[in-house]
Amino acid sequence: MSQPMQAQGVYAASDDFIAGAHVNADQYAAMYADSVADPVTFWAGQARRIDWIRPFTRVKNTDFTLGQVSIKWFEDGHLNVSANCIDRHMTTRAGQTAIIWEPDDPKTPALHITYAELLENTCRMANVLKAQGVKQGDRVVIYLPMIPEAAYAMLACARLGAIHSVVFAGFSPDALANRINGCDARVVITADTAPRGGRKTALKSNADAALLNCDDRVKCLVVKHTGDQTTWVSGRDVDVKAEMAAAAPYCSYVEVGAEDPLFILYTSGSTGKPKGVVHTSGGYLVYAAMTHQMTFDYQDGDIFWCTADVGWVTGHSYIIYGPLANGATTLMFEGVPTWPDAGRFWEVCAKHKVNQFYTAPTAIRALMGQGAEWVEKHDLSSLKLLGSVGEPINPEAWNWYNTHVGKGRCPIVDTFWQTETGGHIITPLPGAIAQKPGSATKPFFGVKPVVLDPATGAEQTETATDGVLCIADSWPGQMRTLWDDHARFEEAYFSQYPGYYFTGDGCRRDADGYYWITGRVDDVINVSGHRMGTAEVESALVAHEHVAEAAVVGYPHDIKGQGIYAYVTLMNDVEPTEELRKELVKWVRTEIGPIASPDLIQWAPGLPKTRSGKIMRRILRKIAENDYGALGDTSTLADPSVVDQLIENRMNRG
Ligand code: WTA
Repeated sequence: MSQPMQAQGVYAASDDFIAGAHVNADQYAAMYADSVADPVTFWAGQARRIDWIRPFTRVKNTDFTLGQVSIKWFEDGHLNVSANCIDRHMTTRAGQTAIIWEPDDPKTPALHITYAELLENTCRMANVLKAQGVKQGDRVVIYLPMIPEAAYAMLACARLGAIHSVVFAGFSPDALANRINGCDARVVITADTAPRGGRKTALKSNADAALLNCDDRVKCLVVKHTGDQTTWVSGRDVDVKAEMAAAAPYCSYVEVGAEDPLFILYTSGSTGKPKGVVHTSGGYLVYAAMTHQMTFDYQDGDIFWCTADVGWVTGHSYIIYGPLANGATTLMFEGVPTWPDAGRFWEVCAKHKVNQFYTAPTAIRALMGQGAEWVEKHDLSSLKLLGSVGEPINPEAWNWYNTHVGKGRCPIVDTFWQTETGGHIITPLPGAIAQKPGSATKPFFGVKPVVLDPATGAEQTETATDGVLCIADSWPGQMRTLWDDHARFEEAYFSQYPGYYFTGDGCRRDADGYYWITGRVDDVINVSGHRMGTAEVESALVAHEHVAEAAVVGYPHDIKGQGIYAYVTLMNDVEPTEELRKELVKWVRTEIGPIASPDLIQWAPGLPKTRSGKIMRRILRKIAENDYGALGDTSTLADPSVVDQLIENRMNRG
């Protein structure tokens, strides 16, 4: 086997890897050219990777024109997503493991759930939902930890044509209630308690609290996972496991249209409340399956592990839908990387002989800090490929991942995508595109990235350039709308740069045509790979009785990528104390969830504002970054002295 190339920071897979890969460099070039020259023919061919109950005749019907944005793929085709992920594998894979479930506590045995068992459990869950009146088009909120029932529940919804909305189990009761109400769900599925890292979250009591603010008719389906005692509201609460055991083991699947919604997933935007991103059935599944196979070079029989939570899009596309559509074995992990010790990820890789491992830079940085000895203890010889997602990966983390985890022989795919894009849109294909650490490299098939001048919106035609990243045409995995708010969808993604889908990210394209994502250009921050709207944290803070005004920005954080920095102006008669600071952190955790906890709170008697009263966030960002030497033009400020005071008392002096 030849050694991986390592010239000028360019890393290619080994000759052996390339020879066995689904796509090599020549194939990528030819297929990519076809995919953008004639998307209709290209995608008609790719759509055959899934089973259609009624074949489509119309492939692509998409329009990015502001005021009439409409995205439809395979629109007259009919299918069922659950049947594609399960039933169609029954003839060849009934006894193959579909899901390996690794529990939080390593002393609890792992589960190997075969495709046959997945079918039965999904059917039983579907029958439980049906008994609660759930039918095609209804919304079901799933608020579960990383347990097999989360997969059954998602697939059961898909089976019935119901639309699921998974809410990350780390979200607070308020956040849960907003999402239940936002999509008018009549059923929420939760669990008694959720163990993670040896500690437990009281999910059912969170759901109880949330339901106080929801319609009385909402049913609460409870998975008794740990058996911990919870309150029980008779007539409203349903014991899922007991009902599943009593339900019929088969449930037929519903034929849905390609453009019928599969799920809603709430994500943070730069303004206002979280947005309910809508993905539909046909195009999403084709795209999730294809990217899973090609980006990770998934080969039949491989064990694939994506460490994300099913509460995020990464879990949807690369724990559930992509792998299962491909008949893969997918690993679902309930725990955390650092418990019982910092070797847990690697212990799980060794135990289950994982072939592809996909995680976030924040996890890599946290583990890197614990020392390489935790990796060296475990046999990682099964690994063939590593992946990264969620934020740009810094060179130190990349090198550590490559050296200690991949032993210099595993390609690293740095996959750029978003909740909105359904699957990877800029990513190396490991057999085709050599990696440069920190670059997501080249577009996936059918994706036409463009770099625009942020001010004029002009398309930058030179290869080496920078600006904002937009996509010029649709691809099947693209979101279709925002739930119940198509106007906001157009406004958020198609209005700044008319005719293009705007990602919200900045980027640089180098002389080789490689894309380097430089981070969000809007008021969205990326904390430990989780998207957070600064406006959401601000509105949580100002909801506190002592807070008059708040401005939130991101700042560089060694582990989290970005930390949350809040400038808080208190009510006139309130004393700023250490206690109050702690109380505000706790307050935000309760309002949104622990992932939104401010890292630093600076008391700000005044905020820098223009004469028209607009907060100048650019200045606040610079101060939070400890880069106050380069504040730029402050002459338009109503009171420039505010700035000196903020610099004087800045919190991040690192
Ligand atoms: C960021 C997660 C650089 C980006 C799948 C994007 C990345 C946001 C990468 C979407 C990457 C994701 N390199 N930045 N490989 N992957 N991002 O919706 O800012 O939770 O807009 O989807 O994460 O976050 P989301």
